[in-house]
Amino acid sequence: MGLLIKGGEIVTADARYVADIYAEGETITAIGHDLEVPPGTEVVDATGKYVFPGFIDPHTHIYLPFMGTYAKDTYDTATTAALCGGTTTLIDFCIPEVNEDPWSAVDTWTSKSEGQANMDYTWHMAVTRYDDKVGEALREIVRDRGISSFKVFLAYKGALGIDDASLFSTLSLAKELGVITTAHCENADVVLELQKAFVDAGKLGPEFHEPSRPAWVEAEGTSHFAFMLRATGASGYVVHLSNEDALRRATEAKLQGVDIYVETLIQYLLLDNTYAELPDFEGAKYVMSPPLREKRNQNVLWAALQAGVINTLATDHAPFDTVQKQMGKDNFCLIPNGIPSLEDRVRMAWTHGVATGRLDIHRFVDSCSTAAAKIFGLFPRKGTIALGSDADLVVYDPDWEGAISVETHHMNMDYNPFEGWPVKGRCAAVTVRGQVQVVDGEFTGQKGIGRFIKREPQHF
Ligand code: URP
Ligand code: ZN
Ligand code: ZN
Repeated sequence: MGLLIKGGEIVTADARYVADIYAEGETITAIGHDLEVPPGTEVVDATGKYVFPGFIDPHTHIYLPFMGTYAKDTYDTATTAALCGGTTTLIDFCIPEVNEDPWSAVDTWTSKSEGQANMDYTWHMAVTRYDDKVGEALREIVRDRGISSFKVFLAYKGALGIDDASLFSTLSLAKELGVITTAHCENADVVLELQKAFVDAGKLGPEFHEPSRPAWVEAEGTSHFAFMLRATGASGYVVHLSNEDALRRATEAKLQGVDIYVETLIQYLLLDNTYAELPDFEGAKYVMSPPLREKRNQNVLWAALQAGVINTLATDHAPFDTVQKQMGKDNFCLIPNGIPSLEDRVRMAWTHGVATGRLDIHRFVDSCSTAAAKIFGLFPRKGTIALGSDADLVVYDPDWEGAISVETHHMNMDYNPFEGWPVKGRCAAVTVRGQVQVVDGEFTGQKGIGRFIKREPQHF
């Protein structure tokens, strides 16, 4: 059965017009006015609504063993929540333990996701240690498994963090293979020293998380990564950039010709360090790394997002509930790091970006969808509305008004960091490859239809 999205205002990264969209099967096969469609076609009336390309979240953690526990969502709960919020493709991270064979991690992530996702997904392949055997496995994974992006953690020393020798080798391989490397940029050694100083001084609450990883620690990590990119000629992507100083480092590198891209998060645009200072351990809900920053950074991040200096807007969805957060009740260093937001990114960016005039509607589509598709080799299959593209579409009703709440969200979480925040707009319909998965913000579709998307290297 075909699908007709009728009479909506189509908005992509670079175009805006009213038309019908028809998908015969999984891909868009016609765009035009008053399209004639076969009998039995499913019709979604989009009159008075926007039609966007399905949104892409390039940074999520669905299956994540981390800091002595596991992130709470499954591929089922996470993709349901993502779809309800308009995200139709996500890029998760496949992360081997330091001494684990990369293929073994691929097998684990496969077992956690295959047949359990309700929308399409892919992974960045994390490198936590490099030797010749790891290098050989990475070559195979890029070639045979269709994973064309790496991930390195410059933070988390003694856990996921990578040393400089491994970083240099990983970037050299990435350059050879045309793979882009994403990086968590914080100076791990300095973080350890600062954490130790706070703990020794008896400063143990969540409010000390940010001062233990100050903005300059992230700026230094960003410079370091950029310098290594320059030295190797590799392409890079700074994940979850939180502050002005770090942004200046990445931008300087761009101006020097380094092929470097920047991602920020909806959390950094809307929440600040005072949330982690909330009393009675409430602040633990707002502990993530890099930490929420001083509010003054937000204007800079919004402006950079609008200008395209920041390329993408992601979530770094890493859900740990209030019971798990208690692991750090006597020592902030043990609070599992992460703030859930997979479901809320798009509507919060709309409400606080587009609706307030801070973010142009095309930059909204670009930063929440198209740019990630282009950087990570999903375009034009994903990230746009065009003949031959997957019929991943969001029909957005801008007139709906409501509020965010743990009572109504779909993430497997017992809190929402944006509890009570007003929202404008919701997804009237969300489709995945021509199949309606969400109606009026609720999942109504078919479970398990999500596929792993193979990607080709393209950063040569
Ligand atoms: O606090 C965070 N960001 N948790 C998830 C792991 C990571 O660093 O992305
Ligand atoms: Zn990170
Ligand atoms: Zn992350």
